[in-house]
Amino acid sequence: MSESTIEYDLILEGGAIIDGTNREAYHADVAISGDRIVAIGDLATARARQRRNVSGLVVAPGFIDSHTHDDNALLRSPEMTPKISQGVTTAVTGNCGVSLAPLRSDAPPPPLDLLGTDNSYRFGSFREYLDAVRETSPSLNCACMVGHSTLRVAGMGDVTRDATPEEISRMQAMVAEALDAGAIGVSTGTFYPPAAAASTQEIIEVCRPLSEKGGIYATHMRDEGDEIVAAMNETFTIGKTLGVPVIISHHKLMGQQNFGRSTETLALIGEAMKTQEVSLDAYPYIAGSTMLKKDRALLSARTIITWCTPFPEYTGRDLEEIARERGKSRWDVVDELMPAGAIYFMMDEEDVQRIMAFPETMIGSDGLPHDTHPHPRLWGTFPRVLGHYSRDLGLFPLHTAVWKMTGLTASRFGIANRGVLAEGNFADVVVFDPATVCDVATFEAPMARARGIHEVYVNGRLVWNASGEHTGARPGRVLERASTAS
Ligand code: ZN
Ligand code: CU
Repeated sequence: MSESTIEYDLILEGGAIIDGTNREAYHADVAISGDRIVAIGDLATARARQRRNVSGLVVAPGFIDSHTHDDNALLRSPEMTPKISQGVTTAVTGNCGVSLAPLRSDAPPPPLDLLGTDNSYRFGSFREYLDAVRETSPSLNCACMVGHSTLRVAGMGDVTRDATPEEISRMQAMVAEALDAGAIGVSTGTFYPPAAAASTQEIIEVCRPLSEKGGIYATHMRDEGDEIVAAMNETFTIGKTLGVPVIISHHKLMGQQNFGRSTETLALIGEAMKTQEVSLDAYPYIAGSTMLKKDRALLSARTIITWCTPFPEYTGRDLEEIARERGKSRWDVVDELMPAGAIYFMMDEEDVQRIMAFPETMIGSDGLPHDTHPHPRLWGTFPRVLGHYSRDLGLFPLHTAVWKMTGLTASRFGIANRGVLAEGNFADVVVFDPATVCDVATFEAPMARARGIHEVYVNGRLVWNASGEHTGARPGRVLERASTAS
């Protein structure tokens, strides 16, 4: 077939290609037909139904958010504007031990309620959940994990102790079902009450199906403060015993006494990487956010309430002020506010930068889409890394920033044919302005669209246009883990 007989659906012409492999930008045109990237090069004479001039802009693979709590948002707000507006085209769900399935419950215990309550937990199997996502067809793709805390709540009467052999086999069967249905792995959150009593052995046994069926193990570790080294060693042991890749979620060090210890933890991760598959992700902020929890390290500095069931009027306010008003200490007033969510300023900027700059660190938002006053990471993570950390601070070059949110992530999570701009890959594409891209969301006004994101394509369809509007298109798919060659 001669070139003149081919007519592409779309050519993005004149842009700087940052292809997601950590290679420097180069100039080329990109042709899209159907849901695929079909040509990259000088396409000046090629025929196309539509051509868009993107000179002065960067054309990159759509970003993969390695760490989300979007399980229910995919169903409840399928346009996924907080993510699409940043250039995110795939969300990894089911993190921190929390997944929406398999569990039927009207009153899920914290932190499961971070995914929403009223009739949210209504899927008895992982397959039912994935079918619901497919039926809803959100605007972006998702790769979904099953959460160990959800399994415990579903499979055990009492979550305050280690699981019995019978409960373990029940949970194992749920993991197997989830993997067969298309889950890409299992996450744990032993930091949280529903899983804190689980032993290392319980986790290994529950996760056994990962070894045979393939899948990753991601973890919000038991401790990200004083005892982080023990928690990391537990994580490495689990991965090694199962022979599966492990992902340390939102790597951080909590509490002033631990500031600076990222030199120690990153060295340990580097060491472990020599003998097993280990990766990690991080978000670009010194504050974290989760359920309101009586934890010394979390509550050690400024704390902002993100939602509060008994006192909705405290949403968005500082815990310090609330404590003063109620005539209590910060520590004691917490009991009166639960259930609630909070933002905690418990990290050191130098650690955040050192962790993000570590070559293997991926970018994941950890955004909480159901919070009334969410942490700004929900709307700002990706542009903040590109604008603030890469361009303005020079923490790493732009092509490295892009790689940390595309190609690296796709390879670590086993997401096939995405994350790299290459002929034959799916056309998940973001066009952004490298000079202006930045986050707008702040701790005070957290729900704000980023600047500099021009166009976002998911599976070849335009979802976010150059005027900064969602097109209403919902071409997202449920992605399965690429079969690992073994
Ligand atoms: Zn977490
Ligand atoms: Cu999380």
